[in-house]
Amino acid sequence: MKNQIDALRLRFADEIGKVSTQDELETLRVAFLGKKGEVTNLLKNLRDVPNEEKKEAGQLINTLKTEVETAIARKTDELREAALNAAIQGAKRYNPTLPAGEEHGSYHPITLVQRDLEEIFASMGFTIEDYAEVVNDYQCFESLNIPPYHPARDMQDTFYLSNGQLLKTQTSAAQNHIMKKYGAPLRAIFPGRCFRNEATDACHENTFFQMEGLMIDRDISISNLIYFMKTMLSEVFGRPVNVRLRPGYFPFTEPGFELDINCEICGGKGCPSCKNSGWLELCPCGMVHPNVLREGGIDPEEYTGFAFGLGLTRLVMMKYGVKDIRDLNSGSLKVLSQFESE
Ligand code: DAH
Repeated sequence: MKNQIDALRLRFADEIGKVSTQDELETLRVAFLGKKGEVTNLLKNLRDVPNEEKKEAGQLINTLKTEVETAIARKTDELREAALNAAIQGAKRYNPTLPAGEEHGSYHPITLVQRDLEEIFASMGFTIEDYAEVVNDYQCFESLNIPPYHPARDMQDTFYLSNGQLLKTQTSAAQNHIMKKYGAPLRAIFPGRCFRNEATDACHENTFFQMEGLMIDRDISISNLIYFMKTMLSEVFGRPVNVRLRPGYFPFTEPGFELDINCEICGGKGCPSCKNSGWLELCPCGMVHPNVLREGGIDPEEYTGFAFGLGLTRLVMMKYGVKDIRDLNSGSLKVLSQFESE
């Protein structure tokens, strides 16, 4: 009996070595462990073994049975892993060593200018804040001293959502949140994408970027505002630029101003981009209205502040001489490729 068992062990080892699929392995399992399998037969034959050898033979057969079961389980795992590896190797995979195609992206000019501005303002002690694009009426209007039915709401054609929220028409929508977050004193800039339901042409887009700035402290005055605006613009352009301040009306400022910059495209002569005026409105700004400070939890008797809403998209057009604002939203790699070396 012992010889029979050893011979079977050798045969099994030989046969499992040749197995290369799950089906073959199953056939082998049935041949050895199935109802009429070799190991099962040995157990059945035990009854013919003389009594004194029965115990030892039984143990030997059970040991073999365990060995066969273990080997089959191990082989099952091996085959599964091999199948998985083959599938992975056959699939199309990302190859980080392949050279790039001819067309490739680069930073968008708006990103480039935004980063410049962030650096300039961070060096002047401003924090950089992020804010939602979908906001509510309170954030975009009411907290900014624009009550319902105020005619100023018509100044900005708003995209309303069916749930009553709206797409931010101005980065000023974050002013109230930031005042409540930090209290006074504070210095913050918050760039963001804004949306207005406008017909598009060379200088209007329904989607554009602004960068809002807010500085609140004791004794902040218009001269602080002018200083920061001039510093910012000369840093961005790397040279002194012509600007002019005009009075402007915004419900959330008192007083409010329009800061214009000489049109760099036509050099001030007049072109379609500046509506032939030679000037481009770049940065509306003003002293924060006392109602807005109060609504933000800041005492207007103690603190004053200035705010500005820089037209980031417009600034990019000025800086790089982009004639048509729509090029900036075109997603065209041809546009981007020109800013690769910036
Ligand atoms: N939010 C205004 C707009 O989009 C621009 C603006 C004006 C922002 C005056 C300001 C400000 O912070 O003080 O038309």
